[in-house]
Amino acid sequence: MGAPRGEFSSRLGFILAASGSAVGLGNIWGFPTQAASNGGAAFLLVYLLLAFLIAYPALMAELIIGRHAKANAVTALRSISNDRFTYNLGSFTGYLGIATASVILGFYAIVAGWMFAYAMVPVSDLLGMGGFADWLTGFAVGRNLIFMTLFMFVTIAIICGGVQKGIEKWCTRLMPSLLFILVALIVYVLTLDGAGEGLKAYLVPDFSRIADPQLVISAMGQAFFSLSLGVGGMLIYASYVSDKEDIVSLGRSVTLLDIGIAVMAGLLILPAMYVAQNNGVAIYDAAGNLISEDTLIFAVLPALFETMGTAGIFVALAFFVLMSIAALTSSISMLEVPVAYAVENHGLERKRATYLAGGVIIVLSGVIILNFEALFGLAIAASTRYGQPLLGLLLCVFAGWIWHRDGVLNELKKGNPDAEQGPFWKIWPFYVRTIVPAAIIIVFVQSLR
Ligand code: PFF
Repeated sequence: MGAPRGEFSSRLGFILAASGSAVGLGNIWGFPTQAASNGGAAFLLVYLLLAFLIAYPALMAELIIGRHAKANAVTALRSISNDRFTYNLGSFTGYLGIATASVILGFYAIVAGWMFAYAMVPVSDLLGMGGFADWLTGFAVGRNLIFMTLFMFVTIAIICGGVQKGIEKWCTRLMPSLLFILVALIVYVLTLDGAGEGLKAYLVPDFSRIADPQLVISAMGQAFFSLSLGVGGMLIYASYVSDKEDIVSLGRSVTLLDIGIAVMAGLLILPAMYVAQNNGVAIYDAAGNLISEDTLIFAVLPALFETMGTAGIFVALAFFVLMSIAALTSSISMLEVPVAYAVENHGLERKRATYLAGGVIIVLSGVIILNFEALFGLAIAASTRYGQPLLGLLLCVFAGWIWHRDGVLNELKKGNPDAEQGPFWKIWPFYVRTIVPAAIIIVFVQSLR
């Protein structure tokens, strides 16, 4: 374990890497489609409340523990334990995080592979390779396996480079590109006929839906997934942050960027759906609900792009490149979880650890692809509906109940000597001990009914 640990070279490096982890398919696909099927702005409002009031404080627990321990979650949680029971609970939480991150990456890599494939469609069309384009868009085991593996190899290549030469370097390139493409697409789509109606559907709340328990459960799941909570990816990124930085302000920036980009993605997807309708594409299913999830991304939007003529080719390319970038900056943070553990706790060399962990996840993904009907939904539910809330809860227990208060305060003071007088210290410790765990338990129990 003699090799020096990696560290982000700057404040911005961490912000781009952590917001790269947070901003992913969850923001650009998950959030707008959930908003579309859950009452538009009613969902947006509940989401904003839960993201700021529940998910953000839980994320801070993860970041503060990570920066303090300068280690992966297993070691970090053990280091703040205070007896045999809490030590074992720390190990359990760390291992559960590694397992959950791996399962999330297992299904995420499949979906990201589809994005890669769809990004190649406009290029193949342009080159007159219609047959190849049909293969790219057909749902087949072969295509799924090939593009999942391709996506995983890109993820592996970045993680092999380490903290500065891999994660930070690529996130500082990819995140500004993502933002640029997103803004350009929003501006373009908003100029098209029908977009106004989509804006209305997104921004005018249907308050009759606001107390719907299903809406609250979906919004909380979405907020946890979006902030990459609990699995230890944010914890390990925070462990690469220098002691000079104010971790509270870093956490705030990452949360704001993540939520901001989700809200912006809604400004793209919902108007695009209504533009599609305006162009004759069906956007409601037989039951009268807005089409969402995979049919929206892989049928409605491509149908919309086709109605746009030549411009559609470039819009389609931009859209699926945007999705691919979003997926990649998230997947690297998931792969870093098992890799950091293998390097730090078992002395493996980084490249070897990356190929090993990446290889295991490719096999896991492959098994899901071969048993798609049975396993795809199960992997999503197990990791995001059960794994993440439980892990979020355990991290709050560690930060609020197990770790000594003085230890937390000392950590905060490293980057901000006046932390004790600030509003964060006045509210957060109590909040993360009581309100956040209680809210997680209430929503979780509701979701089981
Ligand atoms: N936050 C990512 C998204 O919104 O797509 C998903 C994610 C990334 C979950 C990293 C968990 C994780 F560790």
